[in-house]
Amino acid sequence: MKVVAINGSPRQAGNTALALNTALSALEENGIGTELIHIGKEAIRGCVGCYACMRKPGGQCRFADDCVNDCIARMAEADGILLGAPVYYAGMAGTMKAFLDRTFFVAAGSGLFRLKVGAGVAAVRRAGSVTTVDQLQKYLTISEMVIPGGTYWPMVHGLLPGEAEQDAEGLQCMRVLGANMAWLLKLMAYGREAVPPPAPAAKVMTNFIR
Ligand SMILES: Cc1cc2nc3c(=O)[nH]c(=O)nc-3n(C[C@H](O)[C@H](O)[C@H](O)COP(=O)(O)O)c2cc1C
Repeated sequence: MKVVAINGSPRQAGNTALALNTALSALEENGIGTELIHIGKEAIRGCVGCYACMRKPGGQCRFADDCVNDCIARMAEADGILLGAPVYYAGMAGTMKAFLDRTFFVAAGSGLFRLKVGAGVAAVRRAGSVTTVDQLQKYLTISEMVIPGGTYWPMVHGLLPGEAEQDAEGLQCMRVLGANMAWLLKLMAYGREAVPPPAPAAKVMTNFIR
C-alpha cells in the first residue's frame, strides 16, 4: 500500500514539508510506502473551466505542459493521498489551489480517487490554518474519500523554514494522523472482501436553472 503526499509550498524544506514528512514517517513505520511530490515551485495554471475532462473522462487535463497529469496518475495509483499547503492570506497558497482545482476536477470526471483515504494539513505562522485545512478537505470529501482524524486539526505553526520543529503539539498531531491513516488503509483493504464498497452512484446534477 502507498500514500502519495503533495507539498504545495515552494519551500522543499519548509514547514509544510516538515508536517508532511512527519506524517509520512509514521505511515512508513506502520508498513505503508510513501512518495512526496513538491509542486509549490511549478508553473501551474488554474482550471479554465473548459470541461474537456468531464466530456471525455480519461484521467487527464487537456493542459499537458505541466506536472498536473503526471501527478494525477501517481495519485490515482496510490491508496492514500496527503495534501499539504502553506497558509497565504488566510487560505491555501495559490499554486496549490490551481493544482487542486485541475487535479480534482479530472478525478471527479473519472471517479479516480473514490474511496481512497486522504487528509489535508496546513503550515501557518499565526492565522488561517483552520480555513486552509477546511479548503483541503473539501477536495477530499467531494471525491468520496475517507478522512482519518488526529489529536487536533492537522496544522503546524512556524514562520521560517523548520521553525515548526518547535511545535511539539502540531508534530504529534502529524504522527498520530499518519498512524491513523495507516490503520484505516489496512482496515479498508482487509474489509473490502467482507464488506464490499457501495457501487458508484449515477451523477444527478441540480443546477437550479428555471
Ligand atoms: C505570501 C504569504 C502570505 C502569508 N500569509 C499568511 C497568513 O495569512 N497567515 C499566517 O499565519 N501566515 C502567513 N504566511 C506565513 C506562512 O504561512 C508560514 O511561513 C508557513 O510556515 C509557510 O510554510 P512553508 O515553510 O511550508 O512554506 C504567509 C507567507 C507568505 C509568503
